[in-house]
Amino acid sequence: MEKLFPYNIVLIGFMGSGKSTIGNYLSKQLEMEFFDVDTVIQGRMGIPVRSIFENYGEPFFRKMENAVVKELSERENTIISCGGGVVLDNNNISNLKTGAIIILLKADAETIYYRLKGDKTRPLLKDNMNLEYIKSLMKKRKKLYDQAADIIIHTDNKEIDEICKEIILMLSSLDETRGYS
Ligand code: S3P
Repeated sequence: MEKLFPYNIVLIGFMGSGKSTIGNYLSKQLEMEFFDVDTVIQGRMGIPVRSIFENYGEPFFRKMENAVVKELSERENTIISCGGGVVLDNNNISNLKTGAIIILLKADAETIYYRLKGDKTRPLLKDNMNLEYIKSLMKKRKKLYDQAADIIIHTDNKEIDEICKEIILMLSSLDETRGYS
């Protein structure tokens, strides 16, 4: 199939915003490859992200995240789903921006809390699984997410299929304005 979009698609957003689910779904629809940064890191370390944080510390995880982001940014025809903290290092964003459109998936803190409240895999929420903490971390990161994004998609109360349709529509109209089509 002819490539629909001549660039990579990068998904960013807070934990639980649906990056991996949407990325996976989109990759099938668009016949693009799909990589999830955290899954690649876990595969290389042979242990879950939570254990990497516990055994090696967050700075070690962030270094691996840098390396994997750089590597994946060099691929073509690829959808990359990033961990929620990818925006903390501007090098990640400059690497990802090369040849890619960055899509920010947004959801209200309440939605995120509802989606994640039983989750035990997120180290940053391990001792802080409550709405107040989610709100404060979101507030701290809001500017970084907004600055990095080429496209913002609101996901509250929407089905996966609807979100993917919206993304494809936004990318197509971006192509017209940027002269890709
Ligand atoms: C993190 C988000 C996680 C994972 C790590 C740190 C963050 O990914 O990379 O636990 O700093 O927000 P998800 O956004 O996929 O949960």
